[in-house]
Amino acid sequence: MNDPVAAYFERLPQIYKCQFVQRASGANFCFQKRLTLACELAGASVGRLLDCAAGTGEITCALLKSGRFSHATVVDISPAMLQSANELLSAQITNTELEFVRSDVFTFKPSDSSFDLILCLGLIAHVGRLDILLPHLKSMLAPAGRIMLQTTLTDHIGGRIVRAVTAQRELARRGYRISWFSQRDIADACHGAGLRIVEMRRHSLGIPFGDRLWPWQHPHQTPQSRLLIKPPAAFCCARLSR
Ligand SMILES: C[S@@+](CC[C@H](N)C(=O)[O-])C[C@H]1O[C@@H](n2cnc3c(N)ncnc32)[C@H](O)[C@@H]1O
Repeated sequence: MNDPVAAYFERLPQIYKCQFVQRASGANFCFQKRLTLACELAGASVGRLLDCAAGTGEITCALLKSGRFSHATVVDISPAMLQSANELLSAQITNTELEFVRSDVFTFKPSDSSFDLILCLGLIAHVGRLDILLPHLKSMLAPAGRIMLQTTLTDHIGGRIVRAVTAQRELARRGYRISWFSQRDIADACHGAGLRIVEMRRHSLGIPFGDRLWPWQHPHQTPQSRLLIKPPAAFCCARLSR
C-alpha cells in the first residue's frame, strides 16, 4: 500500500473499535466524547449522510440508529477499516440504504452529490490540505446541508506541548506527519471555501491526569497511557454561507 496513512490504519481496526466499547478512561475519553458530540451536533440533520473517513463505523452507526437518514455513503481509504465498518453497520442498521466505498476522499466522486450531512471526523490530522478538502466537501453538499468537522486544536498550551513532545515519535510510528490546526486556521479555511461555521463545541479532558490519580478506575491502562496529556479537541459544524 503506497499511502502511508492508509497503511497505518490498515493495521488498526481491532484496536480502534475497542476505543468505543470500553468503559470511559483517559485513553478513550476523546473517542467517546467525539461520538456523543457528533450525535448532538447532527440532531438537526435528516436525509442523506456521507461519512468521508468512517473508520470502524461506530459514530456512523450511532447517527444512523436515530432513523433520520434514509441513505448513507460510507467512505474510507483503508480496506480493513471499511470492512470493519461494513460488518458493524450491516448487522446493526436495517432502515437505511447503505453504500460502502473504498476511496481516498480527495478523489471520491459520488453519483449523487447532494448530501444533507457530511462527516469529517478524525481525518484532517492525517491528511491536512484543508484548502483542497473543504471545497471538495462543499461540492457534495445539498443546498441546506452541513459538514461536521472535528479536529484537535493547537490553541491551548496543552495541545502545543503534546505536538512538540510527540512529533518525532509519531512520525517514526506512523511514517507520516500529523497536521495540527488552530481555531483560526479552521475559520480561515472555511471562509476561503465559502463555508460559514454555524455551531461549534469544544471539549477537553476534564481531569487530564485522572488515570494517574485514580489508576484503579482504569485497570486496563498501561503505565504509558496514564502519562498521556490530552489536548483540547474541537468540533466545528459548518454549513454553506449564503
Ligand atoms: C482517526 S480515524 C477516524 C474514524 C472515525 N471518523 C472516527 O472519528 O472515529 C481516521 C480514518 O480516516 C481514514 N482515512 C485517512 N486518510 C483518508 C483519505 N485520504 N480518504 C479517506 N479516508 C481516509 C483512515 O483509514 C481512518 O479510518
